[in-house]
Amino acid sequence: MTKSIQAIHSNIASLEVDAIVNAANRYLLGGGGVDGAIHRAAGPDLLKECKKLNGCSVGDAKITGAYMLPAKHVIHTVGPRWLGGNKDESQLLASCYIKSLEVAAENNLRSIAFPSISTGVYGYPIELAAKIAVETVQSKLTSLPSLASVFFCCFSEDDFNIYKKLLGQP
Ligand code: AR6
Repeated sequence: MTKSIQAIHSNIASLEVDAIVNAANRYLLGGGGVDGAIHRAAGPDLLKECKKLNGCSVGDAKITGAYMLPAKHVIHTVGPRWLGGNKDESQLLASCYIKSLEVAAENNLRSIAFPSISTGVYGYPIELAAKIAVETVQSKLTSLPSLASVFFCCFSEDDFNIYKKLLGQP
């Protein structure tokens, strides 16, 4: 099966994919940034379901419904805070992508969109984080037959350019 990995410049809450990934915190009770945008667009039932999940560890991922969003599911993952680079940040960030893809595959999903996890409030330098995101997805995707399309949904033009360059995308 042909697989596609593509950077797009968009609001992740507007995407009609099988799952959008939320860059959440370990309480899974909403927040700012992309987390806030997803909860606002999904409506209050998303928070109700999240309250039953008992939070999520850094580097792990949990799936919910998507309610009023055009996507079918939300996969909530918790990225690491950037603490200078010597606190396992890169392994934890890679784990967010791996666990999110595994959860998507377990649910037989075909398409998934990621925001640039940890690069907002959590302060992870975008160039480093984007490289981990792209390399991790590229190597993990081959082992997950059901998953056909992965989107890196960039909120800013600058981030979009960084991801395009890493993917060799015109
Ligand atoms: N669509 C796509 N990307 C977005 C959107 C959107 N609608 N809104 C923001 N981004 P952040 P983090 C980008 O801060 O660093 C929250 O309060 C944003 O430009 O959302 O993992 C959580 O509750 C950036 O590139 O997530 C946690 O407490 C990327 O999404 C904490 O922030 C991630 O930025 C998580 O921090």
